[in-house]
Amino acid sequence: MTARTPLIAGNWKMHKTGDEAGDTAADLARRIAGVTGREVMIAPPFTALAAVKIAIAGSIIGLGGQNLHWESSGAFTGEISGPMLTAAGCTHVIIGHSERRQFFGETDETVNKKIQAARAANLVPVMCIGETEAQREAEQTFSVLDKQIRNGLQGFALQDISDLVLAYEPVWAIGTGKTASREQAQEAHAFIRSVVEKLFGGPAAAAMRILYGGSVKPSNIADLMAMDDIDGALVGGASLEAATFADIVTY
Ligand code: G3P
Repeated sequence: MTARTPLIAGNWKMHKTGDEAGDTAADLARRIAGVTGREVMIAPPFTALAAVKIAIAGSIIGLGGQNLHWESSGAFTGEISGPMLTAAGCTHVIIGHSERRQFFGETDETVNKKIQAARAANLVPVMCIGETEAQREAEQTFSVLDKQIRNGLQGFALQDISDLVLAYEPVWAIGTGKTASREQAQEAHAFIRSVVEKLFGGPAAAAMRILYGGSVKPSNIADLMAMDDIDGALVGGASLEAATFADIVTY
């Protein structure tokens, strides 16, 4: 099996001022100093990028944006571009989070454009996909994931997805405390990998990292990471406290 370096990422959403974020990031960096064999990333609010960049300097922690516009500049009030994230020290960017799909009109088509913009800015795209509770109950999970992947990656060639990270985040598990069981997560991840294989071939599918997100905690991370097709986690609430997130990082 292709060795895939695990990625444990924290999505801080709309939490923490610059000072609070810097303090938490510095505490996390101290707690995980010397950890090897995995990548770690924090995606703070845009206003905290500068403080977190300083706090994580010299650590294994990478910096991520929570979103980006697909244009590199222009009259887009309130938006942030890929080049701006790169200049702020980001190496990754979360794209298509379900909360952006739910509240801010994100679509598979805008996800596609944003992935292109992320790559143009030398940012690792972390593309979020996942079904709602209603879709799972209607046994539409696989069709939803298939559509999100195919539309989100429409028109991409093999070299365009070489560093892409997928994040499976069942919407019904986000912020609810209802984590998908490791069997449910593994089943979805294996399906996702099979779709990537159909689109881009076996080697690309084997190399692609697929993170799980949705109520990841210190109590469930080891079980999840034991599954063949789970290559890391995208953590929300449990990443906001350095001690808790460090327990997840060092699973
Ligand atoms: O992007 C990660 C996030 O959606 C998961 O949130 O709080 O369920 O870990 P949470």
